Amino acid sequence: MCSIVHFDINGCHYKLPVVYGTFYEKAINISKLRENTGLITFDPGLKNTGIAKSSISFIDGEKGELLYRGYPIEQIINKCSFMETSYLILNGELPNTAQLKSFSEKIKKFNHINQEIYQILDKIPDNYHPMGILSSLTYILTAFTNCQQEEDMYLHLLAKLPILAALTYRKKVGLPPSYADHNLDYTSNLLKMFFSIPNKSYQQNPIITDALDKLLILHADHEQNCSTTTVRLLGSAHSGLFSSISAGISALWGRLHGGANQAVIEMLETILNSGGNIKKWVEKAKNKKDPFRLMGFGHRIYKNFDPRAEIAKEVAENLIKKLEIFDPILELAKTLEQKALQDSYFVEKKLYPNIDFYSGIIYQAIGIPKDMFTVMFALGRLPGWMAHWKEIKFNRDPIGRPRQIYIGYKKRNII
Ligand code: CMC
Repeated sequence: MCSIVHFDINGCHYKLPVVYGTFYEKAINISKLRENTGLITFDPGLKNTGIAKSSISFIDGEKGELLYRGYPIEQIINKCSFMETSYLILNGELPNTAQLKSFSEKIKKFNHINQEIYQILDKIPDNYHPMGILSSLTYILTAFTNCQQEEDMYLHLLAKLPILAALTYRKKVGLPPSYADHNLDYTSNLLKMFFSIPNKSYQQNPIITDALDKLLILHADHEQNCSTTTVRLLGSAHSGLFSSISAGISALWGRLHGGANQAVIEMLETILNSGGNIKKWVEKAKNKKDPFRLMGFGHRIYKNFDPRAEIAKEVAENLIKKLEIFDPILELAKTLEQKALQDSYFVEKKLYPNIDFYSGIIYQAIGIPKDMFTVMFALGRLPGWMAHWKEIKFNRDPIGRPRQIYIGYKKRNII
């Protein structure tokens, strides 16, 4: 293994160190490149830039592998709850029974929000997008939350984000606010806070709880994606946790990132309502002159398959079967996937369904409206965002501050 790369620029010889990861992925450490050569690197979209050393999750895009703290996602999904996964991601190891109990109890202790937040929510127009509401309320939580210890901040957010999400949903559908039920586990409580109706006893459906718990796990971390990088950048400037998470939520909202789950169902509905001509839409996605893309397809890192998408597809099929519903959207999604995967455009460009292709079908079966899908993604991603924020603090990473190639005016005078 070489630890130094040698290279020549315009006849001058230079050496730069190489950094290795656990699985021998390697990177040239260019932090002294400009100092030594006068050059910077140019990498729009950070496609080829490692911005951190991290030990939270690992993706092998060629093999379609995802590990959380070393554990394969396929094992976590079958053996752990979202609470255990959150503990693992935040603390580095799976909890034992006592640690899990204490973690869950502490979260329950913070399972309430200040009355003023209800009033703030009341003032927000009904038609405002739930992701905008979630981001704003997460930000404003700072003003109303008193954290005695650093650990409390993470627990407060794990406790309070589901409340904000449920309140946002209930305002949208005209239901009064609901409150946490301390007798329930995390995901059962989340569902009850969403769907309970005043003066009616709420019946849990374990099939739904299990599907949602799995979906939260699938979203829990995904190394240096756009929203996580946003959270890390804010953390690197020593911004607070709540404002960093609020910024992460805003980044996630984008349709090329987490907002794709809403876009996928909207696309599938449009295809279905316009006659279900899949060939026409696949051709549209291939046409460079047409801005349309097959939403839920493609990924920056996965170039074989997205393991999360395979699990989400299985969860969606099981859920729909067990709930005995016929979902034409699921049938359409499966046919569309099949047709796209047989098409040379998608094969050559290595475009496969990503997590967002099937997640919306699960949310819809649970009864969550389309514009709340990305909110659910945010609830799942929360432990990952927080672990990255924690890691950047622990590692004492320097402030994130990229350079640029300026292409504007030369220096000029005001006339
Ligand atoms: N439909 C049609 N063509 C596509 C698609 C698609 N969904 N995705 C990529 N391409 C083409 C793209 O036009 C480009 O072609 P060419 O090389 O001829 O210019 C090539 O494939 C490479 O695409 P790219 O945009 O350069 O790749 P990227 O790594 O910058 O973008 C992506 C990745 C996910 C933003 C992109 O695949 C995309 O826009 N997909 C649809 C939106 C989506 O599903 N987003 C969810 C991502 S997974 C959830 C998460 O964010 O964690």
